Amino acid sequence: MFHVLVHMLATKATSLPLGRGHPERNHPPRAYSSFDWPGLDSYRRAPRDQGIFWGPGDIGTPQSGRYGPLHLPSPPLNTPDTLAECCALVRQTADPLEKVVIVHQTADRFLTGGETTEEGTAASFPPIGSVEEKMLASTPARLHNYPPLVSKATQVPRLDDLEGYHPSAYLLHNLAHVELNAIDLACDTIARFSPLSDVLPRLFFTDFIRVADDEARHFQWCVQRLQELGHDYGEIPQHDLLWQGCHASRSHVSQRLAVVNMAQEARGLDAGHRLVSRLCCLDDRRSAAIVARIASEEKAHVAVGIAWFVRICDAVGIAEDMYGTAFREAMDACGMLGVLRPPFNHPARQEVGLPQDWYDPALWTRRRHSTDHQDKAEHGLLREQLEKRLQVIIGTEAYMSSSNVSTGRGGSSSSLTSSGQAALVTQRTPR
Ligand SMILES: [Fe+2]
Ligand SMILES: [Fe+2]
Repeated sequence: MFHVLVHMLATKATSLPLGRGHPERNHPPRAYSSFDWPGLDSYRRAPRDQGIFWGPGDIGTPQSGRYGPLHLPSPPLNTPDTLAECCALVRQTADPLEKVVIVHQTADRFLTGGETTEEGTAASFPPIGSVEEKMLASTPARLHNYPPLVSKATQVPRLDDLEGYHPSAYLLHNLAHVELNAIDLACDTIARFSPLSDVLPRLFFTDFIRVADDEARHFQWCVQRLQELGHDYGEIPQHDLLWQGCHASRSHVSQRLAVVNMAQEARGLDAGHRLVSRLCCLDDRRSAAIVARIASEEKAHVAVGIAWFVRICDAVGIAEDMYGTAFREAMDACGMLGVLRPPFNHPARQEVGLPQDWYDPALWTRRRHSTDHQDKAEHGLLREQLEKRLQVIIGTEAYMSSSNVSTGRGGSSSSLTSSGQAALVTQRTPR
């Protein structure tokens, strides 16, 4: 069934690069949908950002040379050959600084000279590879001398509970924890959905190693500043809420994009400017500059999620005016609708292509009160669209099998697991 699905997707979604032989596979599709963030193409085509240290001065800017008290371990001599295995290794690495070095090294290998080459072929790039789910069964490794993670945000100590703790350092410590989680989440997305690497284009995976590379820089800036203020990451107990969202969305790629990128990452768009204001009020302009830079770079991470969510919706035949419903259903299926709560930074969300009626429950409530029957009809229509799509795919598969028609994709179907097919094909099935 897999090769027929790919054939159908490739012919339907004309700008979605799929499969090894597809001519658009190695460079980004442009202007694919009206939901694409205008900066997405530039983000994908930009050289890898080497500014892993925050430079000197009252405020400072990112720089590539080493500066400040942060000392990185030497890169491991032997990392795995494939992107998926490298990302699994990131999850298994407990030392945060060792983790960021592996991410940078991996991003360097898989992004340099890659996606912008017009005549490049898949064979000229290191392989995405695939890892088994059992390699991702545990939560990401964490140093034993760190305080255990708590399951609720209210269990994280408040600044008032930490006598004498530097107020800026407290805020930066919380942010560092978010960034460290974000590294593991992006790497988990690559590794966990690597069995879909014959359905999803290489660009999907390189987008996420670019995101992980960003998050690693963000974590380093936070830790560097923490150390400048006389503190370090791991001093304050933190929560595992972000990981809970990652775990809840582990079965379906569209749910992962909705929960992690379009909801959790979007919270960063809401919170960024507030955090900058608080640091400015504390007269810590250097920390404020770091957080402002991080907040501006988070836009791309939300945009990447939207871009792929829209492409997958389109590939399985969901009409554009139902994408918002599909997003809410994906959140609901993971029990994560509660993440969508105000205050929202509507302009920032709108800028990256996230329509307000997708995420703002205030709009859903009004609509439900006024047109409840219309909502029910739309949900029914979605299910109907999906079922028809599946029937066509299954029916075509039966025809192809009986008539032994070739799709010209050779034996590539063997590398997609049945769970991988389900993750893409049934991603619209109501729970
Ligand atoms: Fe980040
Ligand atoms: Fe992010």
